[in-house]
Amino acid sequence: KQRVLSGIQPTGELHLGNYLGAIRNWVDIQQDYDSYLFMADLHAITVPHDPSTLGENARKVAALYLASGISLEHATIFLQSHVSAHSELAWLFTCITPLNWLEDMIQFKEKSVKQGENVGAGLLIYPALMAADILLYEPDKVPVGEDQKQHLELTRDIAARLNYQFSTEEKPILKLPDPMIRKEGARVMSLTDGTRKMSKSDPSELSRINMLDSPDEIRRKIKRCKTDSVRGLWFDDVDRPECNNLLTLYMVLSNQRKETVAAECADMGWGQFKPLLTEATIAALEPIQEKYRNITAEPGYLDSVLQQGSEKAAALAHQTLAKVKQAMGFTLPF
Ligand code: TYM
Repeated sequence: KQRVLSGIQPTGELHLGNYLGAIRNWVDIQQDYDSYLFMADLHAITVPHDPSTLGENARKVAALYLASGISLEHATIFLQSHVSAHSELAWLFTCITPLNWLEDMIQFKEKSVKQGENVGAGLLIYPALMAADILLYEPDKVPVGEDQKQHLELTRDIAARLNYQFSTEEKPILKLPDPMIRKEGARVMSLTDGTRKMSKSDPSELSRINMLDSPDEIRRKIKRCKTDSVRGLWFDDVDRPECNNLLTLYMVLSNQRKETVAAECADMGWGQFKPLLTEATIAALEPIQEKYRNITAEPGYLDSVLQQGSEKAAALAHQTLAKVKQAMGFTLPF
């Protein structure tokens, strides 16, 4: 079987972007792959964080993976900080990555503007850690949302550079993985501004629907979301970003084809459409929320999942780390 690997930062609540851009796709393909899925808690501290919630947030994300339908029969779920090879390989990568590659990352530019004077060096090194997360497991594919594409390209560049600088035989040291970005849901936009992506760091709660939002919260957010005053609804109009986003959400959450939704909604006004979207959202999230409550009610269960996952992941990761260290010249015995 081919292998996939992906992860999510445990910062704040997961939202529809995380679900539709990432988790749902992992669930849909899991039967065909050996999956490695983790919580990127080392990435979560690249911006100021609260130590008292870091662990609990990671547990919550693991519970949402399982509640969304990830099965332990196909997937290994683990915590990034439990596998020390991530930090170690990240340092080796940091030393072979040109500074300007890191400075060119869109996410670095955006986040460093927001942090102002307090930009930690971790925010810059972030993609080297991400490259380590990925390359340690030699995956074939990395299923993510559109916003991670540039980081995946950098990951391939780092792997190629390491191979070029340090491979002595014909056989490359590291395997270059392919991004896997599904078109529908790859870029879920904010409910308050259809030109910006839905994001955990948006100060407005109204801008996103969280996976654990109650039906009442979902109703309230959709009622207040930004629309326009045009009559009739259609896809792919650059002058109507909110319309395209909300129709896409409805299509994906209700599992319908684009043509079907386009035909159904062509003559609708917002007053008619919003209740449809609301019900589709609630119907998609309710079963996940119920499973989530069951999973989190069982004491010790998640910790045992993570312990087993981390042990299995560490065994694989350490093989790759050993290979890279060997190639880079860390060859002395004790
Ligand atoms: P993160 O935690 O920001 O997001 C997790 C996943 O959700 C996707 N996503 C979205 N998809 C569609 N629309 C949106 N509005 C939206 N917002 C987020 C992301 O594309 C991602 O797939 N750096 C990563 C975490 C990471 C990682 C890795 C991922 C660390 N190491 C190795 C893959 C492989 C991040 O911050 O994702």
